Amino acid sequence: MNFLYKQIIRRALFKLDPELVHDIMINGAGFFQRFDFICALIELMCKTEAQEIEIKGIKFPNRVGLAAGFDKNCSAAKIISKIGFGFLELGTVTLKPQPGNPKPRLFRLPQERAIINRMGFNNIGAAAAARNLEKTGNIGIPTGINIGKNADCPLENAASNYLECLKILYPHSDYFTLNISSPNTKDLRTLHEREKFKKLIEPILNFVNSKPFKKPVFIKISPDIEKSELENISKAAIEMDFGIIATNTTIRRDSLKKTYADMEGGLSGAPLRELSNDILKKTVALTNGKIPIIASGGIVSRAAAAEKLALGADLIQIYTGLIYEGPFFVKDILKCIRQ
Ligand SMILES: Cc1cc2nc3c(=O)[nH]c(=O)nc-3n(C[C@H](O)[C@H](O)[C@H](O)COP(=O)(O)O)c2cc1C
Repeated sequence: MNFLYKQIIRRALFKLDPELVHDIMINGAGFFQRFDFICALIELMCKTEAQEIEIKGIKFPNRVGLAAGFDKNCSAAKIISKIGFGFLELGTVTLKPQPGNPKPRLFRLPQERAIINRMGFNNIGAAAAARNLEKTGNIGIPTGINIGKNADCPLENAASNYLECLKILYPHSDYFTLNISSPNTKDLRTLHEREKFKKLIEPILNFVNSKPFKKPVFIKISPDIEKSELENISKAAIEMDFGIIATNTTIRRDSLKKTYADMEGGLSGAPLRELSNDILKKTVALTNGKIPIIASGGIVSRAAAAEKLALGADLIQIYTGLIYEGPFFVKDILKCIRQ
């Protein structure tokens, strides 16, 4: 199956525009998930032994999840869940719908096993995403929803923008991630700064704590984060009880052979691995097992997946690896980490 994907399917798909391929895949998946027999067939082909783990009261069938950005509109979660994932992170969803950045905005770097994207949170908005999730119902594995700020929302109103989005989506997911690390929304990453971060996180946690059923919150950090910001966020995570996702994509290009200097956006895949692992190691050391940590960034091989767990991640997420290795990559990783 892996051979079929890499030698035939991937070759054909890589001849087409990356965003077009993604749209076809996601729209196709959304359509086909209506047919239970198709979902059952995929599940049968990708079935793996359960490797259960409980984190913050959520039971994950295994530690391997889908990273945010793949199913931005929460429209294909049911069928994606069937390829063996232990959880899915959907979104990024913003309060209001928005078109994202101008195209082209998604680029493959096949020799580097990497992607550069500057999508800019293109999505249908929180209300429509909530309707999709309601239609889909329970998919049988935990889900998280990744929330971002609308591009036209001034930074000083970011906290209410995130909070209103969270309120709409709260009934529809098991955990929530605040995305403060996309490089593709102007000034978003300044939310890592101490005062701005405090203004953002406090109302979110007040809202969650006011609910009879408190759902875990994660902060997705940048691999380009300053040392002092990482220390501050890690300290706040322990004190205020939220988890960390390390990491999003990088704006650095020093790990690439060519400069790709003209290609603005976030770099993911193999060249992100070292940088992301470095931030993961530091986060683990700073938080000392007191908070849940999800690792994302550069998992394009089974070894890279096992390495994240060995470094102390509780859960891992993949995106670029799925594009290069294909849908059976999840099963491959699970086999490897079981061994
Ligand atoms: C095309 C693309 C779109 C992405 N969109 C989002 C997004 O909307 N929200 C987010 O938090 N991360 C987004 N990401 C980042 C991924 O979730 C992931 O953190 C990052 O790509 C590193 O993991 P990887 O090396 O396994 O791809 C996106 C990544 C890619 C390649």
